[in-house]
Amino acid sequence: EMTPEEQAFQDRIDRGEKIEPKEWMPEGYRKTLIRQIGQHAHSEIVGQLPEGNWITRAPTLERKQILLAKVQDEAGHGLYLYSAAETLGVSRDELIELLHSGKMKYSSIFNYPTLNWADIGAVGWLVDGAAIMNQVPLQRTSYGPYSRAMIRICKEESFHQRQGYDILMKMCLQGTPEQKAMAQDALNRFWYPSLMMFGPSDKDSVHSAQSMQWKIKINTNDELRQKFVDQTVPQAEYLGLTIPDPNLKWNEEKGGYDFSEPDWTEFFEVIAGNGPCNAERMEARVMAWEDGAWFREGLLAHAQKEEALRAS
Ligand code: ACO
Repeated sequence: EMTPEEQAFQDRIDRGEKIEPKEWMPEGYRKTLIRQIGQHAHSEIVGQLPEGNWITRAPTLERKQILLAKVQDEAGHGLYLYSAAETLGVSRDELIELLHSGKMKYSSIFNYPTLNWADIGAVGWLVDGAAIMNQVPLQRTSYGPYSRAMIRICKEESFHQRQGYDILMKMCLQGTPEQKAMAQDALNRFWYPSLMMFGPSDKDSVHSAQSMQWKIKINTNDELRQKFVDQTVPQAEYLGLTIPDPNLKWNEEKGGYDFSEPDWTEFFEVIAGNGPCNAERMEARVMAWEDGAWFREGLLAHAQKEEALRAS
């Protein structure tokens, strides 16, 4: 059912070749990439909000510097990814308009609040941990600009994950009982939302089969979720924290943990716009965009003036 052109394209993918911006690609491939890279970029940008919330309240100057650097990295990742998306023929303004009008998604996780400092530890440990688990294989994704962006981004993400874990090591291993209890409470609230980051279970994942054939995705959602659980359980044990799942149990036969699925009804509610912070997040982004209008207009006016000077 593939046309000869589509077959030749699939053969290139199967040989492990990278696809570059100006090369022929099926419309579906282009659309899927714009959707995924665009959502990924939006996630980086919206993802600054829950942590940015704590920059002014970090407990020490050192923690403040580290958090500030991390949140700035996220901005960089967003810009990098918007640029990768632009190579597919969509403009950044269009993508932002799609986000603000609710037509494009961003990761469900950023619709949960960060209530206290332990949450900043949990976000770094679990949310950035899940992000890396998903992004490391994406370094081998078939689209050249996306793959190269992932290589750079993954290096920074591993620092992010470690800064979160470091916050929790301090609270759990050297802190007071109250601080350890705060860390446990943060884990209790962020565990299932972190598992949701990998997307719906494979049977409900509408895009996986085609995206994997095109090597846009390298693993299924459930494969990565399993790897994340297996990696994270010993880290929780080291901190002396308990994963809030009574069904969590090592399964010798599969060489991994059995665990409870997240509440998928909650997941679909959150991605439909009805999570605890969806409205607040969008409001903050739209306000930032509108507040920045004078600056964008200023840049444009200046460029036009220079252009006119050069022409005269
Ligand atoms: N949050 C919001 N939406 C999600 C999520 C999630 N955690 N998981 C899946 N969805 C959406 C999909 O975008 C899709 O909706 P759409 O058709 O309207 O776009 C729908 O749910 C069905 O899911 P899938 O068919 O499984 O979608 P897909 O194949 O795109 O897989 C995944 C989802 C795994 C998130 C994939 O898009 C991906 O790997 N993206 C790149 C990584 C990324 O975006 N990370 C952002 C968070 S990490 C960070 O920013 C720090």
